[in-house]
Amino acid sequence: MSPFKRTLVTSALPYANGEIHLGHLAGAYLPADIYVRFLRLRGEDVLYICGTDEYGVPITLTAEKLGITPKELVDRNHASIKRSFAAFGMSFDNFSQTSRPIHTETARAFFLDLHRQGVFKQKTTDQFFSPSQDRFLADRYIEGVCPRCGSDGARGDQCEKCGSSLDPTELIDPRNAQDGSPLELRQTTHWFLPLGDWQDRLKEFLAGHPDWKENVLRYCQGWFADGLQDRAMTRDLAWGVPVPLPDHEGKVMFVWFEAPIGYISATREWAAARGEPEAWRTWWQQADTRLVHFIGKDNIFFHALLFPAMLMAHSEPYVLPDNVPANEFLNLEGQKLSTSRGFAVWLPEYLEKFGPDPLRYTLARNLPETRDMNFTWEGFLARNNSELGNNFGNLINRVFTFIHKYFEGKVPRWSDGALTDLDRRALAEVEADLATWAACLERFEIKGAVEAAFHAGQVGNRYFDESAPFKTRKDDVARCEQSLGVIIQILRMLCVMLAPVVPFAMQKLWSWLGMPGDLWREGWAAGRLPIEAGRPLGTPEILFPRIEQEQIQAESERLRRLLDG
Ligand code: 2FM
Ligand code: ZN
Repeated sequence: MSPFKRTLVTSALPYANGEIHLGHLAGAYLPADIYVRFLRLRGEDVLYICGTDEYGVPITLTAEKLGITPKELVDRNHASIKRSFAAFGMSFDNFSQTSRPIHTETARAFFLDLHRQGVFKQKTTDQFFSPSQDRFLADRYIEGVCPRCGSDGARGDQCEKCGSSLDPTELIDPRNAQDGSPLELRQTTHWFLPLGDWQDRLKEFLAGHPDWKENVLRYCQGWFADGLQDRAMTRDLAWGVPVPLPDHEGKVMFVWFEAPIGYISATREWAAARGEPEAWRTWWQQADTRLVHFIGKDNIFFHALLFPAMLMAHSEPYVLPDNVPANEFLNLEGQKLSTSRGFAVWLPEYLEKFGPDPLRYTLARNLPETRDMNFTWEGFLARNNSELGNNFGNLINRVFTFIHKYFEGKVPRWSDGALTDLDRRALAEVEADLATWAACLERFEIKGAVEAAFHAGQVGNRYFDESAPFKTRKDDVARCEQSLGVIIQILRMLCVMLAPVVPFAMQKLWSWLGMPGDLWREGWAAGRLPIEAGRPLGTPEILFPRIEQEQIQAESERLRRLLDG
């Protein structure tokens, strides 16, 4: 028996500094949405939270470039990200923003709780200040000569030439990376989280989760081996959540301190909108809540160590993540994605040309669950045409068309008692796929689940060919009806298995099959009940249109030009 009554799922809050691309989708978004839809169709109590991460230096720089305020920039980007996520079928219960007052309030209260307990250490250090910009600079915005290899243009945090990681004060001739202007070292005071003090508790916490993905555990072991260090939780910046202490003019919280608190703020916002402002506590403070963070691998430190330490440190009893399924990276046409070079596929642009389901399916088949994976436009076309189109779409289409043509569009007469060995074998195979599918999803193995669905589609096609209703119609109508009845049962299970992956198409199939109730609440239960003879079926349309070579040509050429150029 699971000790949990409900599941709170989060996807990493995307930066409101640009559009969503395929790398994001394959990392923290699509897998989470598939998982959440799976829980929902099993009728479980689940809440899916996300929003945009809106503070930090890159956002101020973009806003400056565009001549707008950071708030204008993040509001604009938030609206656009929200729109394309919705069109892609992301089923968040709340998609919030970290620049909203509810987040400021939540993050400040969290900070104060830790501060009052004496969790932070205050330290005064020397940091580079840019007189030309009248601000302290983050390490990566400082440039100079590398003290190790002597090459110019090393960043304050690392030298790209020799790969050394650096402290900005080590740089020779340090200057502002943006305008080359000179810098001054100035004293500044910050609040540090002494993560080293939490190392033993974090180790123990992770030891309780041997089931976590191997990559997550491996990274954490590495950080434990190096020893966790004090980390500054405040910054000298203008754009952020102000530190709620007197005499802290101009200081804001470190984005990685307040952003994860954004999950809590967004839950509070959701609860308030339902008229139950205290309901967020059920999700965050009751031990029978299961908390799951979906992230990309670059976020592991913050979700597996930093945020859990913060939650442990709080004086109220917060739940800790029960799992942190982190994905590896998705490459594009065999190369690393690069947003600065424009080497990416952006969601809004994709959606202008194609529907959400083919991309959801292709990515789900190719998720970087255990290693980096690759997206190619050719692969996209092939998956769409041969798998969605031929394996699933054709089967559905053939069955419905046949029944409409010869059996008045009603489920033909069939019964359990009349099952032949062939029937039984096909049904058993699909039942087994359904069990594999559920077991995979429970373990966050989305790819395995989609493979099981794919296999069920193959079983359906093979069964259709072998039972050959198109032949038996002429010489053995009873047998013909029986086999069509069996295929309808296969389609019913297939519909459940594919629903989280291609929800738009499966919502249609669900209604064509005349299924009772809401797919997203009762899908699993309804999908277990046989569809009775005589039930009227809907008129199908093409679920997965073919994609032609010409349609992807421009896309692959654009990427190829970037690679060549
Ligand atoms: O890596 C990123 O895109 C971050 N914006 C993720 C933040 S996740 C959470 F902590 F808010
Ligand atoms: Zn160097």
